[in-house]
Amino acid sequence: MKALVLAGGAGTRLRPITHTSAKQLVPVANKAVLFYGLESIAAAGITDVGVIVGDTADEIRAAVGDGSAFGLDVTYIPQDKPLGLAHAVLIARDWLGDDDFVMYLGDNFIVGGITDLVDEFRRTRPDAQILLTRVSDPRAFGVAELDAAGQVVALEEKPEHPKSDLALVGVYLLTPAVHDAVRAISPSRRGELEITHALQHLIDTGAAVRSTIVKGYWKDTGNVVDMLEVNRTVLETLERRIDGQVDDASETIGRVVVERGARVVNSRIVGPVVIGAGTEVVDSYVGPFTSVAENCRIADSELEFSIVLRESSIEGVGRIEESLIGRHVEVTPAPVVPSAHRLVLGDHSKVQIHT
Ligand code: TTP
Repeated sequence: MKALVLAGGAGTRLRPITHTSAKQLVPVANKAVLFYGLESIAAAGITDVGVIVGDTADEIRAAVGDGSAFGLDVTYIPQDKPLGLAHAVLIARDWLGDDDFVMYLGDNFIVGGITDLVDEFRRTRPDAQILLTRVSDPRAFGVAELDAAGQVVALEEKPEHPKSDLALVGVYLLTPAVHDAVRAISPSRRGELEITHALQHLIDTGAAVRSTIVKGYWKDTGNVVDMLEVNRTVLETLERRIDGQVDDASETIGRVVVERGARVVNSRIVGPVVIGAGTEVVDSYVGPFTSVAENCRIADSELEFSIVLRESSIEGVGRIEESLIGRHVEVTPAPVVPSAHRLVLGDHSKVQIHT
């Protein structure tokens, strides 16, 4: 069995972060979202992995390499444009050959991994198996309709009037039967070859499409709110570890990780929090559910429920909450007079200013 990992895409919902970097590499508890997925694939006993890459191919290649760090053998499959999940299957046809495979969306996060699911699929081997989870607003997802026996009878992509609250999770177990289906469908209204349409085609032609309801936690990290939420969930499982320096004037409470080479000076850190290698926290408060990546500087500030990417600095600005801060960002106070906000913001930035 192989794995096809989708790490291309446009990432419009995570702009401006995705103008300069791949959304699959945004860190959760200081580790790229994509790495959690690759680890679950390895844990399920799959080693042959094809990674679909788009505009951010160089960055993904630099981070994942040949896959050996994960115990995987990685092949990169370039996709010229993000033309849909079924399009990714289409262009991977030669590499996939006649093997069964798990298709894993590189920005999805599943606690508990996929080992049991892969084992079940290997045992029962339907033509396709999808994972479902109950969501409060299914309109933003692919939605499945099941019959009384739990068989999938219909799938709809982002329906206006959903027929159930069962959303498709970004892991699909597929057999070579899918190849005819992805060739048979046409692009949707949004111009993409939808995997839901390919699965619907399988159902319509009499194939067995089974579903499993995910018991564990699942999130698509496509937007900032979900990203912060996943970060919170992962940080809750953190084990306390202080490998960096914490001076006597500082306090670290609960599940706090201070990586080697990090320095905490005259500050209060209330976990769960992770402070990356080489980062300095000076005269500050860092509160629960915060990840600060490597080589950052937090000084004279308060930070809570946030993710800060590497090489950024936040100095003298009071309190920051529920924020996703990119790489090499500087957040500083304005001069006292005149009282005005001076901003240099990238395209699609979102800033909330207290007036
Ligand atoms: P999505 O989040 O559905 O799409 P997107 O990345 O274009 O994001 P947005 O909606 O914010 O614009 O994609 C799910 C995953 O699959 C994600 O990791 C990107 C990847 N992907 C591809 O590799 N190729 C594609 O053609 C598409 C649509 C997505």
